[in-house]
Amino acid sequence: MGGSADDLPGGTRSPGGSEKWSVLKGGLGRSPGMGKIKRMSAALADQIAAGEVVERPASVVKELIENAIDAGATDIAVVVQQGGRSLIQVTDNGSGMDREDLALAFERHATSKIESTDDLARIATLGFRGEALPSIGSVAQVRARTSANLNEGSEITVEGGKSKGVKPAPAVGGTTIQVKNLFYSTPARRKFLKRPATENQHIVEVVRRFALCYPEVAFSLTSGGRETYRLPPADLRQRIGAVFDRFYQQSLKEVVLEKPPFKVEGYVGNLNLVRGRPGEQYIFLNRRAVQDRLLNSAVYSAYRSLISRGEYPFFVLNITMPVEMVDVNVHPAKTEVRFRDEWRVYHIVKTAVTEAIRDIPGMIPDFVSPTEGEQPRTFPTPAPAGLQHRAPTAVEKDVLFPGAAAHQVQVPHVAFHLKRGLFEDYPFQGLLVEAIKDGSGALPEVRRRQAVYLAAPAGEAESNLGIAQGEPAYHLNDMLVLSSRPLEEFPAGRCIVEQVLHLDGGAPHRRGRFHPLSLAPLPS
Ligand SMILES: Nc1ncnc2c1ncn2[C@@H]1O[C@H](COP(=O)(O)OP(=O)(O)OP(=O)(O)O)[C@@H](O)[C@H]1O
Ligand SMILES: [Mg+2]
Repeated sequence: MGGSADDLPGGTRSPGGSEKWSVLKGGLGRSPGMGKIKRMSAALADQIAAGEVVERPASVVKELIENAIDAGATDIAVVVQQGGRSLIQVTDNGSGMDREDLALAFERHATSKIESTDDLARIATLGFRGEALPSIGSVAQVRARTSANLNEGSEITVEGGKSKGVKPAPAVGGTTIQVKNLFYSTPARRKFLKRPATENQHIVEVVRRFALCYPEVAFSLTSGGRETYRLPPADLRQRIGAVFDRFYQQSLKEVVLEKPPFKVEGYVGNLNLVRGRPGEQYIFLNRRAVQDRLLNSAVYSAYRSLISRGEYPFFVLNITMPVEMVDVNVHPAKTEVRFRDEWRVYHIVKTAVTEAIRDIPGMIPDFVSPTEGEQPRTFPTPAPAGLQHRAPTAVEKDVLFPGAAAHQVQVPHVAFHLKRGLFEDYPFQGLLVEAIKDGSGALPEVRRRQAVYLAAPAGEAESNLGIAQGEPAYHLNDMLVLSSRPLEEFPAGRCIVEQVLHLDGGAPHRRGRFHPLSLAPLPS
């Protein structure tokens, strides 16, 4: 019967199996009777454990910034060389450590942040596992200088997990940790590092995340001698402007919702800040950056009528909730969390964002009509063969978004033939929208048919067919094409366009003026 010891492979009932077993044993060169399991050395165990905490230079930066914030720092300076391969240095003005603490800080499971199992259920600091510094110390050459008061400081050197002892040093009013030659002792790991520029990009992203989460803390990042960020203390709106672009600041909607014991606050971007790929979505939970698909999808669902699949709005949201209601001890990197009541959190986030973006016209990018007498812009280069420009008529000017919702827009019935792919060479994108017209020429409803990147950079597929219908269309990119018929009905290679609007301003996502661009019919 299955389950009896006799059935186990290599058991007495199978002499062949036994033979193999002994061959294997022999192959390992062990004397009969000797076990296979061996306790690994502490150094090897440390290196293996370190792999979970220190995946790449950016993880070191993350751990060191977390420690600085836990130490109450208000000024954190990060310096890296070669994408963090040769040097990562983080200096803070936090509480510092005294001599004894410094000696312990690099020992595994040594922490000042929790003491008991109870504490584990209500973690209020970013760190708590007591393994970041020992992990870093086991895979790099580390020097830490720190002082808990202004009279005396101390310094420690740790290499390959071994402390070279603590010695007195000048007081520094905080802590500086210098990490050199990451993964020098684990060549296999070192080989997996990407190009310095790529690793540096990850570091920039880490600093950016903390900068958004802690706008009241000053941050600087110097990379390869170049200053990437110098961020003075600020409020969140200013910080977003400083981290990204001043333009972002003007495109934000404030989010505030308090539903005890939950609170959601921060900013979401209007449609100016919608992107074709993810990367500018930030959610902080009790002031810890978290990656949680459910929370992101709560935000996306609030945007549902405004964006389509494959489009990502900008957001920086802070969720505050009782620490007992969330478990951050899921993975050593601590970006994953488990909620006691995840659907409640989902709904609160969704409601908060929905309320913030309720004011739809405010979500539409700033379209500016050309002022009287101003020449409408035409193609930046001569029009492709078969197309001639024509001065826009007064009616066409009315087509410009008057700041109202798109479904109130008047569209003159002028049909143009437009070859698909015609705009390939132009630096703007198009959005194809199906307009359902009534007899008066007004658009009772503009149905968004699909987002077709008529002038997308080479390689961007004309995809996303058939997204939610019956929803108002809001222009996202630099050119809007309103058509009166579903795309599928168009003969291959052609479509009928009633109005082409072109947003002046070059690069996508920049503020610019919206001008009508008239096209004469193609000779058939
Ligand atoms: N920049 C710093 N300023 C003051 N104390 C620090 C600093 N960095 C580390 N420490 C002290 O060293 C201890 C060990 O740090 P380490 O990062 O290894 O563990 P942790 O932060 O407690 O937990 P985790 O492994 O989850 O990060 C901390 O608990 C803290 O007391
Ligand atoms: Mg830590």
